[in-house]
Amino acid sequence: KMASNEGASLGFKIYILLVLTLNATGYILLIRYTRSQAGALYSSTTTVVLTEVSKLLISLLLLVKEHRSVLGMLNDVWNGVFMNPRDTFKMCVPSIIYAIQNNLAFVALSNLDAATYQVSYQMKVITTAMFMVLMLNKSLSKFQWLAILLLFMGVALVQVESATGTKAGEAHYNYPVGLLCIVISCLCSGFAGVYFEKVLKGTSTSLWIRNVQMYMFGIVSGLVAVFSTDSEVILEKGFLHGYNYLVWLVVAMASIGGLYTSVVVKYTDNIIKGFSTAVSIVLAAVGSFLIFQKTFGLLFVMGTGMVICAVYLYSLPKPPPPKPLTQPRET
Ligand code: C5P
Repeated sequence: KMASNEGASLGFKIYILLVLTLNATGYILLIRYTRSQAGALYSSTTTVVLTEVSKLLISLLLLVKEHRSVLGMLNDVWNGVFMNPRDTFKMCVPSIIYAIQNNLAFVALSNLDAATYQVSYQMKVITTAMFMVLMLNKSLSKFQWLAILLLFMGVALVQVESATGTKAGEAHYNYPVGLLCIVISCLCSGFAGVYFEKVLKGTSTSLWIRNVQMYMFGIVSGLVAVFSTDSEVILEKGFLHGYNYLVWLVVAMASIGGLYTSVVVKYTDNIIKGFSTAVSIVLAAVGSFLIFQKTFGLLFVMGTGMVICAVYLYSLPKPPPPKPLTQPRET
């Protein structure tokens, strides 16, 4: 039912967004933790491949559920993926970009603390808006651009304050490398997210078939990354060297995050997704302040105010566009 229900209920949307944000925060902390542990490290490139495999399997299972039979799923995949190569190859592009982005997350988090990472990664709201305008021909009003900037600054302020005091004592940072990774990740995230949305909403192919197409290429792209960066250590120690239950948890959380992302983009759009993530980051910070009975500082209050203003500004109705002189031609 979920796949055919365009107008999902508000409760359902809030539920997915909450899962998405809580999951993303946990994921970041867990990567940071597993990458900063002493001893033999796992190869993070393999984690990205296993995530694609797990998302592929879950998508196939969901198709089985939708068709209520394995044969129905196989039939759908055969027609939608293998008999439809031109359509399928469209997903090559985002799968490669996401492979880069997902691998960069590990590099960034090996060089930055989790809080800095999460703040600077919110810049993706800005890159996403840029690509939305460029690729989807959406137009944003001046107020909406202002809203996007305010949102980014607001979240940054909130996080700066909630993060102070948690950075002490952690070693091996390399900020320039980490921040460069973030900038590239934000560009990847904006581009791939908008590309996926455009293809998903511009054709009749269903969400889960799109995902199957993308994750199949994702496995291949991920394996290229494995063998171009970690082949020696893997040939020597094995694909799964250094894995423990926490690394498997990273794979699980990345899978949940990815699948939920695709559902959010189907029911809303990439900018709304960025806004909602930012708002829930702020809500989570307010929650933890209340739970730990800290007092709100000035930066925190200002940041929260900015985020609220941003949401309000973004949702203002747009002024009607100037009337075109000639009717746009249908092509
Ligand atoms: O940070 P951002 O929201 O851009 O991250 C998107 C994540 O969701 C990536 O890890 C990507 O692999 C995943 N994804 C997915 N399926 C989609 C779209 C994105 O698994 N259809």
